[in-house]
Amino acid sequence: MYIFILHLEIIFMSVSKKIYILGISAFYHDSSATLIQDGKIIAAVQEERFTRIKFDSSYPINSINYCLNVANIKIEDVNEVVYFEKNHLKFDRILKTYFKYLPKSLFQFSKAINLWLNEKLYIDKELANHLKWKQNVKSFTHHESHAASAFYPSPYEDAAILTLDGVGEWTCTSIAYGKKNKIKILQEINYPDSLGMIYSAFTEFSGFKVNEDEYKLMGLAPYGEPIYKDMIKDKLIKIFDDGSYKLNLKYFGFHYGRTTINKNFESLFGCKRKNNEEIRVLDQNMAASIQEVLNEIFIKLAMTAKKITGSKNLVIAGGVGLNCVANGKIVEKKIFENIWVQAASGDAGCSLGCALLAYYQKNERQVGVTNQKSSFLGPEFSDVEIQNILDNYSINYINFKNDDILLDTITKYLEAGKIIGLFQGRMEFGPRALGARSIIGDPRSVDMQKNMNLKIKYRESFRPFAPAILEEYVADYFTNFEKSPFMSFIFKLKPDKRLSHNSKEISLIERLNHKRSIFPAVTHVDYSARIQSVSKEENPLFYRIINNFYKKTNCPMIINTSFNVMGEPIVCKPIDALRCFFSNDMDILILNNFLITKENQKIESIGKINELEEFLK
Ligand SMILES: [Fe+2]
Repeated sequence: MYIFILHLEIIFMSVSKKIYILGISAFYHDSSATLIQDGKIIAAVQEERFTRIKFDSSYPINSINYCLNVANIKIEDVNEVVYFEKNHLKFDRILKTYFKYLPKSLFQFSKAINLWLNEKLYIDKELANHLKWKQNVKSFTHHESHAASAFYPSPYEDAAILTLDGVGEWTCTSIAYGKKNKIKILQEINYPDSLGMIYSAFTEFSGFKVNEDEYKLMGLAPYGEPIYKDMIKDKLIKIFDDGSYKLNLKYFGFHYGRTTINKNFESLFGCKRKNNEEIRVLDQNMAASIQEVLNEIFIKLAMTAKKITGSKNLVIAGGVGLNCVANGKIVEKKIFENIWVQAASGDAGCSLGCALLAYYQKNERQVGVTNQKSSFLGPEFSDVEIQNILDNYSINYINFKNDDILLDTITKYLEAGKIIGLFQGRMEFGPRALGARSIIGDPRSVDMQKNMNLKIKYRESFRPFAPAILEEYVADYFTNFEKSPFMSFIFKLKPDKRLSHNSKEISLIERLNHKRSIFPAVTHVDYSARIQSVSKEENPLFYRIINNFYKKTNCPMIINTSFNVMGEPIVCKPIDALRCFFSNDMDILILNNFLITKENQKIESIGKINELEEFLK
């Protein structure tokens, strides 16, 4: 009897033992940590949100601590620690590339050798030391991690997988196939042939920051004409029928120097724009041209992926996968029945991918277990915590005990043209605010785009805003609708919803001020919009705000932009939100059920928050 009970206990323990895996992406760009338990995502967060340094690449100590705290475990309770790429392969690529391009690469070569031999080659050990981790730190390749981040959380039993970025170890683009718990890489395009690098070259040429501002170039493209498309295809990149491509390195500098382009590039197109100079027609046309080239490659790669996998589903990850215009083109061509794009498509998402890879190497996969849902995987704050902060700083607020009254109040403020900072629930994982850390406004206002850009976000006035729209109404307004909970696709406004003739003869600013639809703030000059479709089931908090606005106004969408100002990461904690709120012209702040206005606040309270900002700088 005793032995029988002991057996039962052992069986029970083995059944109930939880498997925790910690994934880490760090030391290059956009550090992050993810914790999964038995294949479920417990927490995932980018380090920049805690340190307030955009794209922070440091060891993600705050992210790791947060993940462990959410699960209420210590590092000793973790079964595996996984790193998102293979260091020695990356070193191999850097060494061989710089060696090949000596003497031009001499400066970069010696700098890299120094950095790698003294630091980067021993990242596994550094991680283990930081974590006090006694076992080996497992690793997968960079693109395996991207592919896993795209496939395992997707709602599909099987899928073709596209990964596209600047570079991992050697791979820059891959086509893979995922089925059940297995992922097989089928085709790869290696460095220096990189879509990320060519897109960054155009980003640099147009005066934006490489590795950071690529999305600005994407936003600029609709203002231009793709008049350089043929020249790009003729001189810079040869595109083959299957979507593979080859760069002509004669025009680039990234493989030997500190800049992505060289003098030959400038001889071809003109001088690059300096950051403080006005955006030129040339920049607009260059942006439009490289976007067209990217669209063509995306479509061809997707067709090849369809052909070699036979799957009706496609999943996408990698930094270039954030190009929602090119993603939208794949939808438009109806190459696949379903498409899902990882919300954290850049390198931050690799911490999620590598953790899932480690888990699914040993475990069967059931669709839905690894459910990313709305990507709300970061910190949240209780009403008590928020109230304590507000009281500590003597901030006046209204605490709405009744949700309906709060919703009606938000609607009234939106209708009155007010701009609202919205902070509720768990923070988003990935670069886009999806309703938890968002700034919202009425999309029907003509001046809203310009005002929000210049007065709230302190960013370029040409940049469009995205509509967050109730999922059931997207097809009424936009063509080629695909579910888009993470703002992964651009769709065009239906012709009958358009208002004015979109003349390309007038200047950028004049075109910006044209009323293009009854939702001008979220309709780009080419009538496109970067849609966030919001469903009741997956994003209930945000849904009820938009739905309440819809009931009162008959407009099923609102503006949704990230809660930050230019150059800063999205806000994470209530104090970040308060600092941001008091530092710009935002009208209203909602922290959970607390409403804060700028009226009736004591100057000392705002001063204290601003002092804290100075201190943090
Ligand atoms: Fe990447």
